[in-house]
Amino acid sequence: MEKNLVFFFSATGNSLKVAKDIAGALENCEVVTMGVYNSHTLIKPGYSRIGFIYPVYGAGLPKRVTEFIGGLNLSGNKETYYFSVPTYGTVSGNALAQIDKLLQAKGARLDYGIALKMVHNNCANFNMNRKNVPKRNAEADAKIPDIVSEIKSKAQSPAPKEKFPFTLIHPQVMKLVSGGDKNFNVSAVCTGCGTCTMVCPVSNIEIVDKQPSFQHHCEQCFACIQWCPTEAVNYKNASQKHGRFHNPHITLHELIEKNRGSM
Ligand SMILES: Cc1cc2nc3c(=O)[nH]c(=O)nc-3n(C[C@H](O)[C@H](O)[C@H](O)COP(=O)(O)O)c2cc1C
Ligand code: SF4
Ligand code: SF4
Repeated sequence: MEKNLVFFFSATGNSLKVAKDIAGALENCEVVTMGVYNSHTLIKPGYSRIGFIYPVYGAGLPKRVTEFIGGLNLSGNKETYYFSVPTYGTVSGNALAQIDKLLQAKGARLDYGIALKMVHNNCANFNMNRKNVPKRNAEADAKIPDIVSEIKSKAQSPAPKEKFPFTLIHPQVMKLVSGGDKNFNVSAVCTGCGTCTMVCPVSNIEIVDKQPSFQHHCEQCFACIQWCPTEAVNYKNASQKHGRFHNPHITLHELIEKNRGSM
């Protein structure tokens, strides 16, 4: 029996929804988070397909995704079909070109890559209650089956090319993200429930005296802001009036379970 592997990173479930749909259509497919593992992960040999599904940050890869793929040992998977589906809100930038470069450094290459436009979940800058959210969800849902069948049939796509302005933009955004949680605040409506700790894909939150304490290795994914049941977590003064979003197909329980899964 063939075996397949889908790596994902997800804060509000868009990327997890795509990862799940792909995995559901493939034989014997594991879905594994890129969030909690250390680098230098040795992948078992002989996978038929290995995929990477994640949100675009700053027109490129989340820092954690770069680190994770950089640390993978793919030596037993030279004949594998590699694919990637970055999910994004406005511009996917260099996400696919960056993945291809990381794979090439390991003697592999991206066989198939397609960026999927979904709801932009940056609630510091965008209103999550904006009118086009249901339409954007539906448009994304409608595109997923074709992507799934292309991956199933091992379709090839042209090698992605790096685009100049994004090569400059991405490192600048990543610098801001690194210290991101210093800009978070927690209001008096916090109940100490611990949901923020459980949804954080990189274990950046501890509960101290019934309050979240941020540990400064934040990816600025905004999962803690988006999933807090009382909307107690906010980014500066920016997210208070922006509402909250998560992909309608992904439950809190599922996101937590998958973000803590093992390999
Ligand atoms: C910090 C941050 C930066 C983002 N940067 C971009 C970006 O540069 N381009 C874009 O199109 N979307 C950007 N997004 C939106 C996400 O890529 C998009 O909403 C994605 O589908 C979220 O996936 P998730 O639900 O799996 O976390 C950003 C979101 C966050 C939180
Ligand atoms: S999820 Fe919200 S209410 Fe619960 S501990 Fe975190 S900040 Fe407090
Ligand atoms: S602290 Fe919040 S924003 Fe930062 S990585 Fe964790 S869940 Fe994401």
